[in-house]
Amino acid sequence: MSLAPWRGAIARALHRNRSLVYARYLQLATVRADHRPANRTVVFRDFLKDTNKLKFITDTRSDKVDQIKTQPWAEVCWYFPNTREQFRISGCLILVDSDDYEQQSARLTAWQQLSDTARLQFAWPHPGKYRDTSPEAFTTSAPDPLQPVPNFCLLLLDPVQVDHLELRGEPQNRSIYQLDENQEWFCVEVNP
Ligand SMILES: Cc1cc2nc3c(=O)[nH]c(=O)nc-3n(C[C@H](O)[C@H](O)[C@H](O)COP(=O)(O)O)c2cc1C
Repeated sequence: MSLAPWRGAIARALHRNRSLVYARYLQLATVRADHRPANRTVVFRDFLKDTNKLKFITDTRSDKVDQIKTQPWAEVCWYFPNTREQFRISGCLILVDSDDYEQQSARLTAWQQLSDTARLQFAWPHPGKYRDTSPEAFTTSAPDPLQPVPNFCLLLLDPVQVDHLELRGEPQNRSIYQLDENQEWFCVEVNP
């Protein structure tokens, strides 16, 4: 699989914003069962090896997982402050949970690469439920660093369109990359 033409622009933006830890935070929008939008911040965890799929991690108990099962279409909005550019990337989300044998090694690696603190959050009580006030609720022991807990989920976004807006430049620049019916990327420059 060849790298999509927008990958260079993302790589450059990541490099030029590497001093900002929050340049790896982006907003992921999904669609609720009632067709209303749902949106939240997630951490970009790199691209899945040898693919153009963006990697995220999440908890299978969170609301977004049910939304994705019903409607996999999603869009991320990613702003890089140092270079003042925005990428809006849309495509389908793929849930890689403990039942997914094909991509299990990617899920395993994602778990093993997490910090202890990040892993611990997956041992917390059910996200979104009424606050658990029992003394032991958030003081559980650290999960096994090698074996993911069942609710740990790798989330992949498989892009079909990338809208890149650069505020720098007089006038600004905007490019839209799309996958055509032959699964080839093409790019058009549009007005900002
Ligand atoms: C800076 C930041 C980073 C976050 N990173 C993640 C993440 O990588 N994965 C995740 O599932 N939630 C992450 N969250 C929490 C989500 O924004 C959200 O609150 C949670 O996933 C529940 O969302 P849902 O109810 O729509 O499923 C992050 C929140 C913040 C503020």
